Amino acid sequence: MTAKKRILTGDRPTGALHLGHYVGSLANRVKLQEQYDTYIIIADVQALTTHWEKGEDLENSVFQITSDYLAAGLDPNKATIFIQSKIPEIHELAMYFSMYTPVNVLRHNPTIKSEAKQHGFKDMMYGFLGYPVSQAADIAIFKAHLVPVGEDQIPHLELTRKIVRRFNDLYEPVLVEPEVLVGEVPRLIGLDGKTKMSKSLNNAIFLSDTPEQVWQKVRNAVTDPARIHKTDPGHPEVCTIFEYHKIFNNKELETIETECRQGKIGCVACKKRQAQVLNELLEPMHQRRQQYKSRDILVDILREGTRRAHNVALQTMEEVREAMKIQYYK
Ligand code: TRP
Repeated sequence: MTAKKRILTGDRPTGALHLGHYVGSLANRVKLQEQYDTYIIIADVQALTTHWEKGEDLENSVFQITSDYLAAGLDPNKATIFIQSKIPEIHELAMYFSMYTPVNVLRHNPTIKSEAKQHGFKDMMYGFLGYPVSQAADIAIFKAHLVPVGEDQIPHLELTRKIVRRFNDLYEPVLVEPEVLVGEVPRLIGLDGKTKMSKSLNNAIFLSDTPEQVWQKVRNAVTDPARIHKTDPGHPEVCTIFEYHKIFNNKELETIETECRQGKIGCVACKKRQAQVLNELLEPMHQRRQQYKSRDILVDILREGTRRAHNVALQTMEEVREAMKIQYYK
């Protein structure tokens, strides 16, 4: 039997998942779980680096993200979904990694810099500055071969590879240097047509939105400002809704483009098409979500995933302590 390669990826639980998450990572994970031994980390400790004052929100977000994962099609029998803080060995490994990771490397990490700016951090917290080290431990402790992530995570993956290489060099070669698997999908634009879709920017369609909510959001989305009457020729290249048609409605793309340019299809009709396509995409997710409605079921899934992940982590840490000669006795 050839063992499947292992992938590890995950998210900070900071709120409901939206279509941007779906096209950017979730849809891909659902495919990858068929082929790889899939580990999904709910990085609650990492979420605390920016949301340390909001314990209650964090708890809700952990359950929300779990049900979003399952609704999107992650199968708990194929994917191991687990909670970071329940595996304290991750933090132990991060501490060992931190001994030989220079602070300057973290200070110059472009993702750290842009997130610090985004959150208005002037004086950076120790935990926030160090989260890429902790993320390296998230990955290394499971000996993941592949890490599917978005572009913003590349600096973290480079650091992870460096940290792992250095560990194997300093001690014994027990850790696996992971490869990054970068998503090909560009960031999904938000309903405001300005920047990426994001919960905090209030321009998102959530996977848990009802058909009516989807329609209201799509109806209010920004389109071609030059188009006032239906018969005005449209400019799909500047239209947010057309961006969505490109991603979610390939089938009708050409027709919509032509009719828009010729002033034959109005924005309302075009938006109706879009809302329908989105609701067709979300419908099976609503159905699946029903099966996982109860908190007890979610707890069972998290408990089992975390138990499986914990066993792997415990095994790796035995090897790590042996390699570092800090096992002392068994
Ligand atoms: N930093 C990732 C994000 O913000 C979340 C994350 C935490 C992660 N640990 C990870 C991603 C390990 C991949 C592997 O999206």
